[in-house]
Amino acid sequence: MPGYFITFEGGDGSGKSTQARLLAARLETAGHRDRLTREPGGTPLAVAMRALLLHPEDSLEALARAGLAPKEEAAEPILPLTEALLLSAARAQHVARICEWLAAGTVVISDRYADATLAYQGYGRGYDLGALRALQQMATDGLTPDLTLLMDVPVEVGLDRRRKRARPRQMTLLPDAQVEQGQRQTLLGHEDGEELNRLDKEALAFHQRVRDGYLALAEAEPQRWIVLDATATPETLARKIWQAVSQRLEA
Ligand code: TYD
Repeated sequence: MPGYFITFEGGDGSGKSTQARLLAARLETAGHRDRLTREPGGTPLAVAMRALLLHPEDSLEALARAGLAPKEEAAEPILPLTEALLLSAARAQHVARICEWLAAGTVVISDRYADATLAYQGYGRGYDLGALRALQQMATDGLTPDLTLLMDVPVEVGLDRRRKRARPRQMTLLPDAQVEQGQRQTLLGHEDGEELNRLDKEALAFHQRVRDGYLALAEAEPQRWIVLDATATPETLARKIWQAVSQRLEA
């Protein structure tokens, strides 16, 4: 029996990771074999690439301590092109695993996949979509999700949610280092509900492009995507998601 491949997409703070976990639990209750995975990540090498992408300084420091990177130069900014390539390289490793799981009849749930690169690096950063699509075709060998659930939330709501559960160390790729630093200050220093600063607003425009990009991708392929209003309660969302998924699995 072939498996079934479901991906969750959405902006930061959209609650997709929670819903991915709830769906995995629901599938198990219903007697399905499932695998919950995420990007960037899903395999040891891909997780190492995630560390390089999201925590370049710490990663280089750890490599230097192990004698695997030069000690003299602690950090180097990641070029936007490198970011897109590294995300895609991590995806290639991940896809090999996903294919094995699917071949074994598993329902695979991935928290983000190739559409994230189109939304973030394409619509968000302005990389050529045609080139990114070609890169995704290479990285995934054409493996497309059977179903993609877009957790759509207004950007302000998503960023506000993220700020409220903020950790000092951000796990997010932001438009540039300056904005990242601006957000980090906001995360550490501001009270909830305080007005967004200039750098936050720059980040806001980036996240707005990402949201619009996701909506455009969903509109272009309505048979694969379901757009969910992620301002709904987690319970409502989980119910709607289960309805959609169980219907498709039974079909
Ligand atoms: P993720 O682990 O989903 O973080 P979160 O749960 O906080 O959204 O993703 C980490 C960051 O990586 C996130 O800001 C989105 C970004 N990203 C891209 O820019 N392109 C991609 O292809 C992927 C998979 C993630």
